[in-house]
Amino acid sequence: MPVERIDIAHFRNITEASLTLAPHLTLVVGANGQGKTNLLEALYVILQGRDFRVASERDAIQLHESVATLTAEGRLGDHPVKWRHAIQRQPLRRLHSGPVVPVVLFSPEDVTLAKGSPEVRRRFLDLLLAPHDPHYARSLKAYHRVLLQRNRALKEAQYHGLIDDFTPLLIREGTYIWRRRSEAFQELLALAKPLHHELAGGEDLTASYHFGGAAHPVAGEETYRAEMQRRRPDEIVRQVTLVGPHRDDLEFFLNGQPAAGFASQGQLRTIALSLKLATYDWLAKETGMTPVVLLDDVLSELDSARRSRLLELVAQPGQQTLVTDTEARNFEALTPLIYHVGNGVITPWER
Ligand SMILES: Nc1ncnc2c1ncn2[C@@H]1O[C@H](COP(=O)(O)OP(=O)(O)OP(=O)(O)O)[C@@H](O)[C@H]1O
Ligand SMILES: [Mg+2]
Repeated sequence: MPVERIDIAHFRNITEASLTLAPHLTLVVGANGQGKTNLLEALYVILQGRDFRVASERDAIQLHESVATLTAEGRLGDHPVKWRHAIQRQPLRRLHSGPVVPVVLFSPEDVTLAKGSPEVRRRFLDLLLAPHDPHYARSLKAYHRVLLQRNRALKEAQYHGLIDDFTPLLIREGTYIWRRRSEAFQELLALAKPLHHELAGGEDLTASYHFGGAAHPVAGEETYRAEMQRRRPDEIVRQVTLVGPHRDDLEFFLNGQPAAGFASQGQLRTIALSLKLATYDWLAKETGMTPVVLLDDVLSELDSARRSRLLELVAQPGQQTLVTDTEARNFEALTPLIYHVGNGVITPWER
């Protein structure tokens, strides 16, 4: 069981909280807008060293406060471990220490995975890869920095001479991002297909990985360079970099039909659920650890077959899970440890 105790100060609407977590399932109940997702987010940040929710890390600091801190204690295998995460507002600074533990988050927003903007799908892969592959995290950061500079050079005629100075670095970082993303996605898909088949009563899930702006899959630097040269005249006209992982997308198909155009809400949700369950298996294999599961308000949206698939997952021995719900009744029987959140204040729940 990774996390035994977590202490929170000035994180979102939580002024102060100290709580112990159950080795298996901890339930957090509260009405809308009270701080359930905030608590789940705090645990996510502790385990991953980064946030899944914010545009700027500053947003997670409590309003009118200058620093948010999270600390936690627990155990990985036989070793006691400690985590610490602090975010300072001015100047913006983030400190993190402690081991990275894989996390799978199920949230109502997952439904946007198959239908929302491409950015949602790129983020899904980045959040999966970056915490466990420092090379990927560094490449992603470097890539976006160089991309910004190259786009600036494309925008102003006087800097056009500089465009190609940025290209080799962009290609180097982009090649690694493309390789990791496309490989991970194929592995995920292979795991998701049978899960989806089972959950959707035989429907067939397939998907394509679209290498941003490229006419063909890009396997190495040479193809990448050729694609960049091909789009170069357009780039001068459109004044942005047209080829690269920043324009990637994933496309899902149900029985051969594009899901974004045809699938119902329920079908979109099943695609997302299969992918998330696949993520669990993928992370377990990739990291050799049991992922912590965070279920944010998802049960009420699932029918009974999908609900029991999820409950099966969290009932596994050694599985630590945090669940939020607006009411206790879905999970009450599964755990003795229940907290109530009201206006950011976390207290033991009274039966
Ligand atoms: N930086 C911040 N400082 C103070 N309050 C914040 C901050 N960020 C978010 N909040 C507040 O936290 C509350 C939302 O908390 P949260 O998203 O955890 O709600 P929830 O209990 O998950 O609700 P729901 O059931 O609707 O999902 C909002 O009232 C929001 O104003
Ligand atoms: Mg919420």
